[in-house]
Amino acid sequence: MPAEKVPVLVLDDDPLVLRSLSEYLRVEGYDVSPAETLRQAMALLDERSFSVVMSDVRLPEGSGFDLLKHVKALNLSAAVIMLTGYGTIEDAVKAIKMGAFDYVTKPIADEEVRLAIERALQQRELLEENRRLRQQLGMSFHLDNIVCRDPAMKRVLDMVKVVAGTDTTVLITGESGTGKTLIARAIHANSARSRKPFVEVSCGTLPDTLLESELFGHVKGAFSGAVANKRGKFEAADRGTLFLDEISVSSPSLQMKLLRVLESFKFEPVGSNQTREVDVRVILATNEDLSELVKKGKFREDLFYRINVMNILLPPLRDRRQDVGPLARHFLEKYRNEAVHSVGGISETAMRMLTDYDWPGNARELENVIQRAVVLCRDTLIAPEDLPPKFAAREEPVLPEGKILPLREALGRWERKLIVEGLKATGGNRKETAKQLGINRTTLYNKMRDHHITEI
Ligand SMILES: Nc1ncnc2c1ncn2[C@@H]1O[C@H](COP(=O)(O)OP(=O)(O)OP(=O)(O)O)[C@@H](O)[C@H]1O
Ligand SMILES: [Mg+2]
Repeated sequence: MPAEKVPVLVLDDDPLVLRSLSEYLRVEGYDVSPAETLRQAMALLDERSFSVVMSDVRLPEGSGFDLLKHVKALNLSAAVIMLTGYGTIEDAVKAIKMGAFDYVTKPIADEEVRLAIERALQQRELLEENRRLRQQLGMSFHLDNIVCRDPAMKRVLDMVKVVAGTDTTVLITGESGTGKTLIARAIHANSARSRKPFVEVSCGTLPDTLLESELFGHVKGAFSGAVANKRGKFEAADRGTLFLDEISVSSPSLQMKLLRVLESFKFEPVGSNQTREVDVRVILATNEDLSELVKKGKFREDLFYRINVMNILLPPLRDRRQDVGPLARHFLEKYRNEAVHSVGGISETAMRMLTDYDWPGNARELENVIQRAVVLCRDTLIAPEDLPPKFAAREEPVLPEGKILPLREALGRWERKLIVEGLKATGGNRKETAKQLGINRTTLYNKMRDHHITEI
């Protein structure tokens, strides 16, 4: 397989500069996408990944800094090189301060551009390596790894920054898969305790008695099976952070014990009367509305008030649709190495289907969908057929407004929809679907192939 060409985006409003620069880079073996306007460049960035972005600073409808900001806001890994006019050193300084990798002054010398790109690619490789290592070490929880385009999510991150600097107890509420664990880790990673342990306990998975000993530890002989002293998670998290997930399911007796620890940071291991004291910041998470549980008498009111000092509410993904695109691209970056060949982006139609979907499983569901699509994708862009069948079923035939399609094509779109729905209704049973649609099975297979219907 020939080496993949390195994708480079070039933005310059001067058509002559744009053309000569693009041509030079093409000859040098780069995969060049030229853009003449800021809008074009931003659209390209939304569509596919670039290793290097080169942009003019002065543009008629804005500035290259807007593009630089866009790259940074989307958390893209592209290295940005600014093309600054001769003598505008302030622009260059500003660009570097804003996170550009380098700048090249105009008039552009080809050799200078080539060197700048080579340096950028080397640097990118180092960063990528660094990111991979950090991820392996479980250290990828810095705020720049959290996608946040939607204003609703921006408010969440502002809260994270504020609470990270304090020691208060934090309650994170949000549906399953909204990123509660991620946020808890980010708070820890950005706090003064970051070098101390982050200890996670999933309260929902352990029976009550075990959970108590898990949290507070036990002494030898405390119960049958307690063959030795065991340190609990509160102690393990000393000077660090303890993350209690799925707190709503804890039993009344445990709730009482928690209340005491959270008030005094003192407790006794199960079977011991020796009091221990710890210095722990506690973060709790729940996907239920605790105030409702309090009303129903299922959660202690005093404990609720004790933990509800700082409440971070993670909105479901369907309420922050602006995050869907950037998140999809974030997960694409995460999984692209798993693809047989390079998957560069997400097609416009596929992206629209993703944005329109309701995401009951939130970011986690999106992550799974993208991971699967990356593996299935046979092209450079993720297409509608790489998405799970439920997306295909939602795909309404698109009939462009104000334009008349050839009848054959328009009918074809409806035919596709009817077949997908038929397959869904029969649980993917081809024989039954063919029967109900009144066609024979071979015809159905042929039509499925023609319409790119893969599996239902
Ligand atoms: N804003 C985000 N930016 C980047 N990745 C995200 C974001 N939100 C969620 N994720 C990713 O989505 C996945 C699910 O998030 P996470 O496990 O934190 O959700 P959760 O709310 O803790 O879920 P559960 O209720 O099941 O415990 C993780 O891989 C996480 O890294
Ligand atoms: Mg979680």
